[in-house]
Amino acid sequence: MARIAVVTGAAGGLGQAITARLLADGLVVLGIDIDRAGLDRMAAPGFHPVVTDLTDPAAIAATFARIGQDHGGIDALVNNAGTCFMSDFPHIPADELDRQMALNFSGAFHCCQAAIALMAGREGVRKIVNISSNGAYNFDVFDPPHYRASKAALDTLTKDLARRYARDRIAVNSIAPAMTETPLFNVLTEDVLARAIAAMPHGHAMQPAEIAAWVGFLVSAAGDICSGNVIILNQGRDVR
Ligand SMILES: NC(=O)c1ccc[n+]([C@@H]2O[C@H](COP(=O)([O-])OP(=O)(O)OC[C@H]3O[C@@H](n4cnc5c(N)ncnc54)[C@H](O)[C@@H]3O)[C@@H](O)[C@H]2O)c1
Repeated sequence: MARIAVVTGAAGGLGQAITARLLADGLVVLGIDIDRAGLDRMAAPGFHPVVTDLTDPAAIAATFARIGQDHGGIDALVNNAGTCFMSDFPHIPADELDRQMALNFSGAFHCCQAAIALMAGREGVRKIVNISSNGAYNFDVFDPPHYRASKAALDTLTKDLARRYARDRIAVNSIAPAMTETPLFNVLTEDVLARAIAAMPHGHAMQPAEIAAWVGFLVSAAGDICSGNVIILNQGRDVR
């Protein structure tokens, strides 16, 4: 029987690449996004689009209840949905801080709550991969503080769940990429984008498929013995 993976933010740049990787690896993928048209463009054997607003905890609960009924459980969850709001400190409106945390942290938190219940009794080591950001660790680049904090909170959740569910054989890791070429680049001005790419040691941004390969590795049997880690992918830009 094919393993079942849930990928959030599936219609985005990284989400599409992660979905393609997991489908190629033989998993059934349930792709959650708020972008219905984007999901519709991803039609492929084994892919199931699920339109849900991940800032709505009740909608998340209903979506996962339906997944449980329709698919019987979950083997892997990739919390990838996220964005970067660019107001800078101290001029960050209260509602922007709330929206940043709601999508990047709380949405992933609620997905973990619901998914872990659906992982019970499944075969093998089940996987959660949280897509964090190098911005939570490199304070010399442009990322605003509410974005950094949302990803740092996500990484603390990673470590808590990894420890909490180790004996239940649920492995939980974060992947924290630096500059990866996706539509998220559009939040940056040309000048900021050019400087950030120039700082990448290979002279170019990373590609979504390169990040997706690491997600695929963690979700595969090779990833069974890795849990509680934040894996930074940045071409060696800021080794500390
Ligand atoms: N691109 C980068 O350089 C980079 C670097 C570090 C971390 N990341 C992280 O990677 C993840 C994916 O980002 P991306 O670059 O693919 O961006 P993206 O903007 O291409 O994709 C984000 C996806 O999330 C979806 N989404 C937004 N709000 C939603 C909501 N309320 N409910 C459901 N879905 C919603 C969007 O529709 C979109 O499909 C994010 O968590 C981001 O923080 C990206």
